[in-house]
Amino acid sequence: MADLIAQLNETTAFIRKQYPHEPVAGIVLGSGLGDFASQIEIEKELDYRDIPHFPTSTVEGHKGKLIFGKLSGKRVVAMAGRFHFYEGYSVEAITFPIRLMKFLGIKVLLLSNAAGGVNPAHKVGDLMIINDHISFGTLNPLIGKNIEQLGPRFPDMSEPYSKSLIAKAKAIANKQQIPVHEGVYFVVTGPTFETKAEYKMIHLLGADAVGMSTVQENIVAVHMGLPVFAISVITDLGIGHQETITHEEVLRAAKNAEPKLSILFKELIAEI
Ligand code: HPA
Repeated sequence: MADLIAQLNETTAFIRKQYPHEPVAGIVLGSGLGDFASQIEIEKELDYRDIPHFPTSTVEGHKGKLIFGKLSGKRVVAMAGRFHFYEGYSVEAITFPIRLMKFLGIKVLLLSNAAGGVNPAHKVGDLMIINDHISFGTLNPLIGKNIEQLGPRFPDMSEPYSKSLIAKAKAIANKQQIPVHEGVYFVVTGPTFETKAEYKMIHLLGADAVGMSTVQENIVAVHMGLPVFAISVITDLGIGHQETITHEEVLRAAKNAEPKLSILFKELIAEI
């Protein structure tokens, strides 16, 4: 485990050599949301496969690039493509890029994902600001010996998503006339979408949306004291309205909603 710190330092040094600036925000682009990268004034791009200790992405719809550049006049680092538990990666591998971004100097982390709506008020293409999560459905990435240098053994999870970033995002959404929901994200491992009974249970347990990412990234960020903002694009509806769900539909719905998410992220970064 001490190795992890050595790996993080090594990768940080590798990146600093090629990109000597400190990004203020880290951004993770979820399934179908990669087009957002075109908003960034790119200064440097690195393929995941060229970055030491980085896992490589395998899922369709994920480009697998770390992008450095300017957004709203601020320096950012964006992951076009993330790593999922269902791909077979260890939790350490999935969360390595998040820890790396903290080592690179980010002050806030913005996460995005495609998710299934289980709240009857949701429609395909809606945005939902995540204000809390339920993480029983996956492995906690902090299991194992705690690395004190990263954070405490028993992190407080009373504010996993920054209230002040949520308030800022809601004010932006209001001003830009972008309708947003706010709610609880339930994580599952995937890769199966949920059965009808599972969607129903997830709703009954108090969640509004369900997806296969984000929570492990959130947990390691909170562990390191990094404020997180996260948003879901509702790409399908788990209860009531929809008979079957495909990955293609998820990607299409996310792509269609991406311009709304772009405005929110851009404006939010302008205010950091
Ligand atoms: N369930 C889980 N993950 C998802 C879904 C879903 O319905 N939609 C997009 N990601």
